[in-house]
Amino acid sequence: DTGEVSLNGYEHYMLKEIHEQPDSLRNAMRGRLNDEDATAVFGGLNLTPQQLRGVERIILTGCGTSWHSALVGEYMIEEFARIPVCVEYASELRYRNPPIENNTLVFGITQSGETADTLAALNETKRKGHRTLALCNVVGSSIAQAADGGVYLHAGPEIGVASTKAYSSQCCVLAMLSLYFGRMRHMSFESGGRIIEELRRLPAAVEQALTCDSEVRRIAAKYADASNFLYLGRRYNFPTALEGALKLKEISYIHAEGYPAAEMKHGPIALVDEHTPSVFIMPRGTTYDKVMSNMEEVKARGGPVIAVASHEEAQIRRIADEVIMIPEVPEFLQPIVSAIPLQLLSYHIAVLRGCDVDKPRNLAKSVTVE
Ligand code: G6P
Repeated sequence: DTGEVSLNGYEHYMLKEIHEQPDSLRNAMRGRLNDEDATAVFGGLNLTPQQLRGVERIILTGCGTSWHSALVGEYMIEEFARIPVCVEYASELRYRNPPIENNTLVFGITQSGETADTLAALNETKRKGHRTLALCNVVGSSIAQAADGGVYLHAGPEIGVASTKAYSSQCCVLAMLSLYFGRMRHMSFESGGRIIEELRRLPAAVEQALTCDSEVRRIAAKYADASNFLYLGRRYNFPTALEGALKLKEISYIHAEGYPAAEMKHGPIALVDEHTPSVFIMPRGTTYDKVMSNMEEVKARGGPVIAVASHEEAQIRRIADEVIMIPEVPEFLQPIVSAIPLQLLSYHIAVLRGCDVDKPRNLAKSVTVE
């Protein structure tokens, strides 16, 4: 149901939503960054400062793309707030009955707020006495109501079945939550202020990343006939690899696997041949050189290589067949910026293959059954 939402001149909702991301990110941050205290502010957590400071573990749960943003959140919260995080598929959490320590906070991450498994996982943990929060886009949705409190994404309606702008907003809200929890513990005023500045620069970086569109379309035309793709990245770009692969599967029906780049040698490298493109997500960062050597290994085995990089370097140009440039941002924000070319790549490939981008076969926007 597209309701009253217009395409605004775009050919598909998905493309429109990809291009809306600078704005949807601004909306996610509006009123939530506080310079005076160098922290984030949230109106609806419904927890006392004492309860928030007492949190000893966080569980992030969700399905599909929302599960990928949970993985990004795990890296962020552990890095900035130093609170141990577990990421759980909601469909597994609801029946697994894991032992959960006291002072655990459970976040249900969901665009629609209606996913049956996520709702059930939250209710199940709530029943056992844990506090639950919803990170949700749709105001007043079932999950928003079921949780003790939460944070809205304010991304605006997302119509394309494949999630794009909700994903980046989820990552952005998780970054702000990491700042918030970090500042309640050990994070200095200076570090908090630096994170705020980096967040403020994010929408402009996403705008710049979107200018790769025509280059990505050219690359899509070259590889649209492939039957298999690999997506590889490390640390913050490992969830990005999973998300890139999911986007391609969802809308173009090409088999794709996302993997931590260094795990590739334990199996997926056997898939590499001249018909299987590998997408390396490798903006500059702590594991950049390692991922470069993984890329070299794939190239040496005859696999076509597409690199998503953030700075010009002769070595990348020498190894990769294609290089997509994105702006350089701090590592914790790379998942948001590097997702842009991957969303566009899957979009253009799907269009070229004649697929129904906004309503892919067998999929639903929100899955309200088990
Ligand atoms: C469906 C959609 C996905 C989405 C997932 C979780 O499978 O097709 O795009 O990521 O549900 O949805 P939610 O609304 O809970 O984020």
